[in-house]
Amino acid sequence: MNIFIKQFGKPDGVIGRLFGKMMTVSNRNMHKAVLSELSPSGNVLEIGFGSGSQLEMIHDRYPEVRLYGIDISSEMLTAAEKRIGKTASLSLCDCTETAFADGYLDAVISTDSCYFWREYEQILNEIKRITKPSGKLILAYNSMYANAVHKSDGGLGMYDDKSISEAVNSAGMKIVSVRSCGYKQKIFTILIKGEVK
Ligand SMILES: C[S@@+](CC[C@H](N)C(=O)[O-])C[C@H]1O[C@@H](n2cnc3c(N)ncnc32)[C@H](O)[C@@H]1O
Repeated sequence: MNIFIKQFGKPDGVIGRLFGKMMTVSNRNMHKAVLSELSPSGNVLEIGFGSGSQLEMIHDRYPEVRLYGIDISSEMLTAAEKRIGKTASLSLCDCTETAFADGYLDAVISTDSCYFWREYEQILNEIKRITKPSGKLILAYNSMYANAVHKSDGGLGMYDDKSISEAVNSAGMKIVSVRSCGYKQKIFTILIKGEVK
């Protein structure tokens, strides 16, 4: 796997910190699009929070939302803690298995991360377990990066509209909308089960 993709998938060291800063800027349209799909209260988890800029944006707009974040990079955990302090409860954790109780969350969000999810079927099942049936999964992704990860790593599961849709449908979730939110950037709003809140 090339060094850039490796760093995006799990930022590490000085270069990882730099990548975190770059993503804060380059992913801003996706962060805004995700924000526009959220309600002003409830429990929200971000998977792969990076530098924490998406969580910061949500807290600034919706201070009532209880925010949680998990990421596999200790570099990003340190960077995000520095940025947002205690406004979100952050932990070093792989999204394949989390400590959240069944149906605890109102929404799970993830930007620029799902193409790194090797065990994506297990991850979608875990998201289903920890989110309310009426809750949402909001995925934002950049098809240019996703395609590069897919090519470089021999084909991870969720890397384009078709593979994301297929994975989500087989997990028994329902896509409510797919829209463009910038150059090569898209946002999927997905219903866990039941009616949208
Ligand atoms: C390209 S960065 C995007 C960061 C941030 N969402 C943003 O938009 O700036 C991908 C992030 O997902 C995290 N990540 C990758 N696989 C993960 C997994 N299985 N569980 C949790 N986090 C993961 C990486 O460590 C990295 O911080």
